[in-house]
Amino acid sequence: MFIPSDSPLSPADFLFPGVHWVLEILLVVFLALFLWICICARSVRYFWKFPAPAAAGRLIGGPQRKRIQPPSMIVDALVLSPGMKILELGCGPGTFTLDIARAVQPDGTVYAVDIQEGMLEQLRSRMKREQVENVIPILADAEVEIPLSDGSMDAAFAVTVLPEIPDPVKALQQVKRLLKDGGCFADAELMIDPDYPLRRTVIKWATKAGFTFRSKSGNAFRYVLVFQSESQ
Ligand SMILES: C[S@@+](CC[C@H](N)C(=O)[O-])C[C@H]1O[C@@H](n2cnc3c(N)ncnc32)[C@H](O)[C@@H]1O
Repeated sequence: MFIPSDSPLSPADFLFPGVHWVLEILLVVFLALFLWICICARSVRYFWKFPAPAAAGRLIGGPQRKRIQPPSMIVDALVLSPGMKILELGCGPGTFTLDIARAVQPDGTVYAVDIQEGMLEQLRSRMKREQVENVIPILADAEVEIPLSDGSMDAAFAVTVLPEIPDPVKALQQVKRLLKDGGCFADAELMIDPDYPLRRTVIKWATKAGFTFRSKSGNAFRYVLVFQSESQ
């Protein structure tokens, strides 16, 4: 659109009305750069699946994370109560682990599985710092074998883990094996994760693994899906 030179409007006023033009240009450059980084990160992750590095534990498990993805979403979705045995898939630095462990105290336990010792070390430090003892860290690849007995868990959950596992259906079959009949599995995802999957993708994986879809909460930006394990 042609704008006369004496017009009080600059072209960028159509994007951010009332903002100084220098700031507008900086905002446009920042947004373009952010979009470019997102597209690159998603493209790399689409073709090359690998666990989020343990060095990123501080970023993943920082306090700001729980503001945008509150642990109460998991507690409510799984209707947790004291005494329950909970499996956490891909616990990372323990961002959600201790909140879930507190929800099942005094005699419940969280079995926190991760493929990286570096992540489990961060979880152990957090347990010490926050004096939470009812967590058992387990080093295992969920896609291969989780060393726990069949039907021993009341419920299970994973937060931003499934899409970074090369074969998420295999990992979900492990989760199903460990759950009691009727036990629920909650999967939580966040849109700013470069691996973010659509809800229908997670439902497809879980259905293939033999779960029944039960409910969803949240929105496209952050959601929790609940599935139930039933014997065939
Ligand atoms: C993006 S981090 C999320 C950590 C934590 N759930 C959170 O939301 O803060 C994903 C975690 O899953 C773990 N992970 C990836 N593949 C795994 C596998 N095959 N078995 C077990 N853990 C795995 C990674 O090591 C990493 O700690």
